[in-house]
Amino acid sequence: MEIGLTNVREFEELARKALPKMFYDYFRGGAEDEFTLRENVEAFQRIRLNPRVLLDVSSINMSTSLLGFKLSSPILVAPTGGHKLAHPEGEAATARAAAACNTIMVLSFSSNCTIEEVASSCNAIRFFQLYVYKRRDVSAKLVQRAESCGFKAIVVTVDTPRIGRREADIKNKMEAPKISNLEGLLSVDANAQDGGSNLEAFANETLDPSLSWKDIGWVKSITKLPILIKGVLTAEDARKAVEVGVSGIVVSNHGGRQLDYVPASISVLEEVVQAVSGAVPVLVDGGVRRGSDIFKAIALGAKAVMVGRPIIYGLAAKGELGVRNVIGILKNELEHTMALAGCPTVQDITRSHVQTPADRL
Ligand code: FNR
Repeated sequence: MEIGLTNVREFEELARKALPKMFYDYFRGGAEDEFTLRENVEAFQRIRLNPRVLLDVSSINMSTSLLGFKLSSPILVAPTGGHKLAHPEGEAATARAAAACNTIMVLSFSSNCTIEEVASSCNAIRFFQLYVYKRRDVSAKLVQRAESCGFKAIVVTVDTPRIGRREADIKNKMEAPKISNLEGLLSVDANAQDGGSNLEAFANETLDPSLSWKDIGWVKSITKLPILIKGVLTAEDARKAVEVGVSGIVVSNHGGRQLDYVPASISVLEEVVQAVSGAVPVLVDGGVRRGSDIFKAIALGAKAVMVGRPIIYGLAAKGELGVRNVIGILKNELEHTMALAGCPTVQDITRSHVQTPADRL
């Protein structure tokens, strides 16, 4: 069933109307001046397409593979916490929608539905995102639960030694969304300090700021699953990630919610791809709002993209159906872009199909 919206941006307005301001601000917001939040979108808009003509595009195939898993398109659902703030069915509805679209969902560590609830909501390939807590036993327990529920990879988020200063959340006195996975494992008495929010106090009480490269070895020691690291923005760190043996890298600035004034993830993607020279797949997220953005990311070397806020806006606007529509629109736009650019398969999308600002100098 269609909702009648023509692009994913339109879901944001529906979500804004559907949500209490505090929750909409939590989903939309970025850190401090929100420079990186805006830049994530604008950097995509500065990349031009170089279409090729007179190629047979009567049939377009968007499928690809990641870590040996077949994907219907190079799109994954990014891990985002607190889906019950958007819709009463929370992550279970998002998971059903992703499964219906043959799309891998990365379940956030900070989800409102438990790992088990999401796993039993439908049958699909899913990854689990991990935050490493000071209480290592708690993080290890969640990895074990994800593994025994059939999740296929662990995505370790490494850009959050502490939480970014999201000023809207501070002004709104936003509370930390309930993390159901922690029930019975951890109770945190987090009190907002002056100039902070309870969300910030909770995160800073729990997250381990001492996490370092050697700890990726610890994550490897507690699971048999492949490990991706999410939050790499430099060639140097990408090389280190390969050295410590990760199976994949997600170029990400956490949707502009962590360190403000870092570059848009799409603008550092290529240097990361070059640094790892094919050793592991590289994914990117941040600012993907059009199928043409996905095309641009693939042309610059990404294996796939992850989509954050548009999924939540779809969920807030229309529940499971809204998420299906958001993924469906992005897939349709990608298919259309591939046809008009002369690329019948994802493998046909190459560096020469895009022009970055640096190319124009
Ligand atoms: C996030 N993100 C995130 N990342 C993560 O590793 N664990 C998490 O729990 C969350 N939670 C979260 C909540 C909300 C409300 C947002 C908007 C984002 C970051 C997310 O995975 C992804 O990197 C960005 O959302 C990508 O940018 P776009 O698509 O939102 O522009």
